[in-house]
Amino acid sequence: MRQLFVAGNWKMHGDKASIKTLVTGLNAKADSVGNALVAVCPPAIYLDYTKNCLMADNIAMGGQNMAIEPVQGAHTGETSAAMLKDVGCQYVILGHSERRAIYGETDQEIAQKVKTALDSGLTPILCVGETLEERESGQLESVISQQLDAVIAEVGIDQFSGVVIAYEPVWAIGTGKTASAQQAQDVHAFIRGQLAKLNASVAEKVIIQYGGSVKPNNASELFSQPDIDGGLIGGASLNADDFIAICQAAGEQ
Ligand code: 13P
Repeated sequence: MRQLFVAGNWKMHGDKASIKTLVTGLNAKADSVGNALVAVCPPAIYLDYTKNCLMADNIAMGGQNMAIEPVQGAHTGETSAAMLKDVGCQYVILGHSERRAIYGETDQEIAQKVKTALDSGLTPILCVGETLEERESGQLESVISQQLDAVIAEVGIDQFSGVVIAYEPVWAIGTGKTASAQQAQDVHAFIRGQLAKLNASVAEKVIIQYGGSVKPNNASELFSQPDIDGGLIGGASLNADDFIAICQAAGEQ
């Protein structure tokens, strides 16, 4: 049985005052999430501050991106895996569609980052997902396979037991258009099936989160699907009550 995992991707939101309020709210209700795994992923500059505000020991932290270079070097503006670990991160989101679309990250770069994260002892949250155009033109499965295959080629299937996958249909991100529970389940089953062709026991273990307009009112239905193992939450993770309600929905499964 896989443990459900909910992570909040704060994206480029927040300041010290709002983070203090948000994390104080999370601390107060952290006991209510049952056995769900929970993490928050603040902007890099606020990781250390967030860690200092976090009192709940069942809420972990992750970065939103990371350099390929693992430790240090001449990479102006970048954050390394070692730095993320140094400030208390266990996770790092990699290959988010915003990184792919706005910053031009390629499947190969993302695969290298996944390798760096694994080698450094961070758990990567690898985002995959199709655009509406790709879905409507029948390319959903080929797009997802290509995104996965690049990482499998780099790290090998066995290492996927240490990877969290987040299926985030691009058309559902920040749009209020959630994939239906069945649409999401179908893709999650496809992803698990692709991994199972290579290693059934790894496929059985790997946590696959759904991301894209998850809210307190749709979380339970999504999380009750057999292959949906939690969520990667954007907008709703910026409100403590909403985020905790989503974590509770995961804890109740
Ligand atoms: P929203 O929950 O705001 O749609 O964002 C999803 C997302 O991109 C999480 O990484």
